[in-house]
Amino acid sequence: MTIMFPSLHEFNLNNGLSSTREPIRRTLSKMKGMFHDEAAFRATLSAGDPLVYEFYDMAVPETEKDVAYGTSITYPGKVGDEYYMTKGHFHTIIDTAEIYYCLRGHGYMMMETPEGDTEWREFLPGKAVYVPGRWAHRSINVHPTEPLVTFFAFPGNAGHDYGTIETKGFRKLIVERDGKPTVVDNPRWSA
Ligand code: NI
Repeated sequence: MTIMFPSLHEFNLNNGLSSTREPIRRTLSKMKGMFHDEAAFRATLSAGDPLVYEFYDMAVPETEKDVAYGTSITYPGKVGDEYYMTKGHFHTIIDTAEIYYCLRGHGYMMMETPEGDTEWREFLPGKAVYVPGRWAHRSINVHPTEPLVTFFAFPGNAGHDYGTIETKGFRKLIVERDGKPTVVDNPRWSA
């Protein structure tokens, strides 16, 4: 077996970024089809390609005995009335869980199962959201100016299945209504 040596990494408590590793960045152009308002998506993109979120893959071994971890930073912003968010995913090994601990900002974790159950939980600094196996998950930043920063950990072998969400979307969205984050049915969700 391979012996892995202990490692030390730094994640900034203010902006979530690491000084010891390069993040994976998702700009708006990589999120085509994920926001419900296509016209607003095109209009926003025509003015530039803003960074929507970034996260870390710390390259731990992909075994069930390892723990993948890192920070996820979702920036403030909206496409039309829909807040900036991560693509969201199921785990490839679908019954693997994940824990997210909020370090900064204000947002929600949107979750759903293949059977159609839907749940969301609020992120505020100091709050931890446990995402059990079988729940797809997406972080949504509802703060007008601050990034949503979370620290996550999940089994090393879990893997990411983005395709299902890219094709079908989530059943529920969080949009701004009368200045407040509001959960609504996704008008474009397809079974
Ligand atoms: Ni995950």
